[in-house]
Amino acid sequence: MIFKQLLEPDSCTYTYLLGCEETGESVLIDCVIDTVERDLEVIQSLGLKPSYTLETHIHADHLTGARKMKALAASQIVVPSMDRLDCADLGVEEGQPFKVGNIELHPLFTPGHTSTHHAYLVKSDTHTLLFSGDALLIEACGRTDFQSGDPATLYQSIHEKFFTLDDETLVYPGHDYEGRQITTIGQEKQRNPRLGNNKSKEAFIHIMNTMNLPYPRKIDFAVPGNTQCGLCPDNVPEAFRGPCDLQEVPHEERVPAMQGDQG
Ligand SMILES: [Fe+2]
Repeated sequence: MIFKQLLEPDSCTYTYLLGCEETGESVLIDCVIDTVERDLEVIQSLGLKPSYTLETHIHADHLTGARKMKALAASQIVVPSMDRLDCADLGVEEGQPFKVGNIELHPLFTPGHTSTHHAYLVKSDTHTLLFSGDALLIEACGRTDFQSGDPATLYQSIHEKFFTLDDETLVYPGHDYEGRQITTIGQEKQRNPRLGNNKSKEAFIHIMNTMNLPYPRKIDFAVPGNTQCGLCPDNVPEAFRGPCDLQEVPHEERVPAMQGDQG
């Protein structure tokens, strides 16, 4: 499996590229509208096809690049089925592996940060990789005070779906705000200040309900835009409109990116 962890620095979002060496198919987990062109260059430089974009949840802190990647490269938009998004090409749900070439992604329904959040588990010959979205972050977790968040539900998701995995499971989070890139289930069970050391559900709920985090600066346009797979709504402020440019240009009218590099 070809694997790359890519960063969108404005929202500190990690996008993950998984590519099948045998078939050339690839999937981008949680790509961001601001870095779609960069991601496409990476995919093509590795000799992969931009087959799918896949979401963990309806993001509030950035616009997804799903629609833009589809416009640029004809990738298919994949989201959790229970999001019921008309703009999506395919839906995923727990219990039904999603295949990208010979790679199998196992969706895990992990609500709490949002009510339809999914994580993805991938088993390679040597490692088990968990793409935890915003349910579990490195020594942290996603906030539960917006959208359909609920701390008791998140506690249950993490304990039932994540902390039952092997300690050696590699955890790749949806964000990190301090430049850290990876953790493990074992480390989080031990060290996570909100959940580790068998922290009780009551203690977790208290921590999450008293965080006093600032209002998310992009939520007012990100949530409506992401329910349309990354369409830029009219209320996107001028400062954030740059990446909105190309997304409505029909695919047939585009010159494939990096065309000159393919020979
Ligand atoms: Fe999120």
